[in-house]
Amino acid sequence: VDQQRELTAEIKELLIARNAVLVAHYYTDPIIQALAEETGGCVSDSLEMARFGKEHSAKTLIVAGVRFMGETSKILSPEKTVLMPTLEAECSLDLGCPADEFTEFCDNHPDHTVVVYANTSAAVKARADWVVTSSIALEIVEHLDSEGHKIIWAPDRHLGAYIEKETGTEMLRWQAACIVHDEFRAKALKELKAQYPEAAVLVHPESPASVIALADAVGSTSQLIKAAQSLPNNKLIVATDQGIFYKMQQACPDKELVAAPTGGNGGTCRSCANCPWMAMNGLESIRDALRDGGSSHEIHVDEATRIKAMIPLERMLNFAA
Ligand code: 13P
Ligand code: SF4
Repeated sequence: VDQQRELTAEIKELLIARNAVLVAHYYTDPIIQALAEETGGCVSDSLEMARFGKEHSAKTLIVAGVRFMGETSKILSPEKTVLMPTLEAECSLDLGCPADEFTEFCDNHPDHTVVVYANTSAAVKARADWVVTSSIALEIVEHLDSEGHKIIWAPDRHLGAYIEKETGTEMLRWQAACIVHDEFRAKALKELKAQYPEAAVLVHPESPASVIALADAVGSTSQLIKAAQSLPNNKLIVATDQGIFYKMQQACPDKELVAAPTGGNGGTCRSCANCPWMAMNGLESIRDALRDGGSSHEIHVDEATRIKAMIPLERMLNFAA
């Protein structure tokens, strides 16, 4: 605890000295989320992280999350120094969609509009016409469909299937998955629902269709927090990374949050939904990033890629505005 207090104090000083602001995702450790809030930074979903970083006047952004989030910040704010606690925090969706293979796929379907999830590399974004996050994906695909576009979707297969089902738009879909949400299991969730018939079920759309089918609310992290507040149920079964419990519990302190079961431990693990890459963010690595900067912490995106990737990202932000 003492060490934690010292690190926190050190980080607060460094934030001021470097004219920096901490931007954290809901899946990071609650200690980091609390620190971001306390120091005037932000804790939010992927869309709001991008917007906050772009609009904030700080010279330096320290992004606690995974690499695509740091890259997105840099693409939108080239004049800022963008630091991350570790550049090794990946995402299985990003890793599952290599830029060269994806480019070839798109080149083979030149009549298609390319829509990619924010959970991709800068190079994949640079090949896209639109970037979307889970909080705005449905609206953007609906909009493109209404204009008659044929769509390539990448990389999350479950989110892609969910968008197709909700919008009735058929898309050419890439088939990667989030290793955390892909593990939620419908059979065990049904059993849990039977045990708690009064509970509502909240599901992130990176989960399998069979799990989404059991949901009372489906949405991005921020949409799930809002649903937790507005649903009348006092008990909520939550199918997303457990990092979200910190903010969700703050948003509805009187409600009981129950973790949805995943495939771990013979199919009923209730503490397994924790992204290993999000977990790489810690107080010590935030301190190191702010104090030392340099090649193990600073995000760089080559300028030609950045300029191309900025176009679909700004399209999303303008659409969302
Ligand atoms: P959102 O916060 O946009 O819902 O995204 C979740 C996610 O994939 C982060 O890893
Ligand atoms: Fe990627 Fe899933 Fe981890 Fe989010 S939770 S960073 S989508 S692997």
